[in-house]
Amino acid sequence: MEKRSLAYEGKAKKLYETDDESVFLVEYLDQATALNGAKKDAVKGKGQMNNQITSQIFEKLTVKGIQSHFIEKISKNEQLVKRVEMIPLEIVVRNVAAGSFSKRLDITEGTDLPFPITEFYYKEDRLDDPFINDDHVAFLQVATKEEVQKIKELALQVNHLLQELFLSIDIRLIDFKIEVGRTEDGTILLADEISPDTCRLWDVNTNDHLDKDVYRRDLGDLIPVYEEVLQRLEEKGA
Ligand code: TMP
Repeated sequence: MEKRSLAYEGKAKKLYETDDESVFLVEYLDQATALNGAKKDAVKGKGQMNNQITSQIFEKLTVKGIQSHFIEKISKNEQLVKRVEMIPLEIVVRNVAAGSFSKRLDITEGTDLPFPITEFYYKEDRLDDPFINDDHVAFLQVATKEEVQKIKELALQVNHLLQELFLSIDIRLIDFKIEVGRTEDGTILLADEISPDTCRLWDVNTNDHLDKDVYRRDLGDLIPVYEEVLQRLEEKGA
């Protein structure tokens, strides 16, 4: 597969065209960002770590029947994905109160939620990715009501499978964010990445943060924490 021109540059990834117009090459960068890019640092080794973790997770989800854009990892920091029309939403699923949920509703971090809570954020840097509801999604013509239903079902299915996967390596899945895309025939596919950048992961025994909160909250070095997650996934991730 030949890497061609840069198609898109995100905060921690670059997307390249390839000689197959239905395939993008994703390069994971050694870049950490938080607060919508307001906090930004070069972190050596992070690109490789996220590419390896997200590839492992997408492979495991594929085996469990989740349709995604992921094709294959082709180098330490690169992977091939199917080209889809990205839906400009961040879909968050929460199992335990944390982060912006705890702040907005004044619920102590670590409080178990009685059922998984799904949230939508409109991906629009200019507006700082606002929290929106199903009607807003339809009004903005970001997705149809039927697609919203499908996206929610997919998010909850992914939640169930990720909870199972992480529990098998002694990690509690507190919350996570996914993004989805649409193929030409209208199928909704899981897209983007799933990694400690996009999940809150707490060690079952110590409640230690094994995710980007280490960086967001200045709790220590990010790389050893991501290495720990990767090592557990490689050794015994179900
Ligand atoms: P939040 O508590 O800050 O809303 O984050 C919820 C989850 O979504 C958490 O696991 C981190 C993830 N997330 C992203 O991946 N990207 C983002 O831009 C935001 C705001 C959150």
